[in-house]
Amino acid sequence: MNAPKDPAQHHDLSGRAPAPAPAPAPAHRHGDAHTHGHTHGHAHHAVADDLDWELLAGHLEASGELHVPAHRAAAARLSELLGGGREVRRVLDIGSGPGVMTCVLAEAFPEAEVVAVDGTPALLDRALARAGRLGLSGRVGVHHARLPEGLADGALGAADLVWSSEAVHHLGDQQGALDALARVLRPGGMLAVAESGLPMRFLPRDLGFGRPGLQARLDALQEDRYQAMRAGLPGSVPVAEDWPAMLRRAGLTGVGAFTTLLDLPAPLGEPGRDFLHSRLTRLRDASDGSLDALDLETLDRLLDPAAAEGLRRRPDVFLLSAATVFAGKRPVL
Ligand SMILES: C[S@@+](CC[C@H](N)C(=O)[O-])C[C@H]1O[C@@H](n2cnc3c(N)ncnc32)[C@H](O)[C@@H]1O
Repeated sequence: MNAPKDPAQHHDLSGRAPAPAPAPAPAHRHGDAHTHGHTHGHAHHAVADDLDWELLAGHLEASGELHVPAHRAAAARLSELLGGGREVRRVLDIGSGPGVMTCVLAEAFPEAEVVAVDGTPALLDRALARAGRLGLSGRVGVHHARLPEGLADGALGAADLVWSSEAVHHLGDQQGALDALARVLRPGGMLAVAESGLPMRFLPRDLGFGRPGLQARLDALQEDRYQAMRAGLPGSVPVAEDWPAMLRRAGLTGVGAFTTLLDLPAPLGEPGRDFLHSRLTRLRDASDGSLDALDLETLDRLLDPAAAEGLRRRPDVFLLSAATVFAGKRPVL
């Protein structure tokens, strides 16, 4: 059954004191849709890091579409946390990419205007086109803004829900960004950031060729590239990525977390295979010297569309992805 498990393993978002036990360092989900540090041979950079978001548009949209069931579960949970969502009149999706979640939010909050905010115009065009296809044009808008400059007080208008997935980590000062996003909230409004989870899994540990554990080695490679990406961002500020603590420092209360799961067991369908092929291709291109010859050869076999043991044809490819959402509310004074 290719259906997602119900996601909502929810911790306290009700204002109760969070569990005191220190959480293990969160495993980043970064790289689910993109790899950090890869080169495209493309001169134009839409935003101030080394990723060309415009070139990644199709990949981001394919990733978003695969994750729609998990996005819907996240949106339903947020609606619940906001008392059913009836009072939610304005929602911002910060770093929206092609607007898949923007549209899911518009469906989940039928009374709300939902605005996709992003620094890449081509992605906002996709968001508008998507909203049109889904009959949501009247309520979905876009706002082109380069962050953090675009977070200046008043620039985004007020909102009842601010959602941001996998975007804050592309800003040098993550705490500063959360502080600014919290200021956008109306009293009682909620900021929710999806910025952690587990590295995506899609291959068996032992592929039947090559050295077992390739996926764990690819994770390590991405971790290094992620760190290099963060260190290279303008105004990069090191911070312990304790997202609940960061949200509390931004002045929010009732901070908690829940995790959504996308569980597509083998055999994976074509859209999932297309997405993984594109993702693995980018990982291979980004590896520049960090993988040994045997792992590179293994990747080439996996990427060979004609090979029975390749990603496109082998029966044991699956997709398992977990995203953690951290959320808190602006107090009503
Ligand atoms: C990894 S994608 C996430 C897209 C979508 N939220 C998702 O979860 O699939 C990051 C998005 O943030 C945008 N972004 C990155 N840095 C930005 C910046 N400095 N200003 C504005 N947008 C930025 C990119 O254009 C891209 O759409």
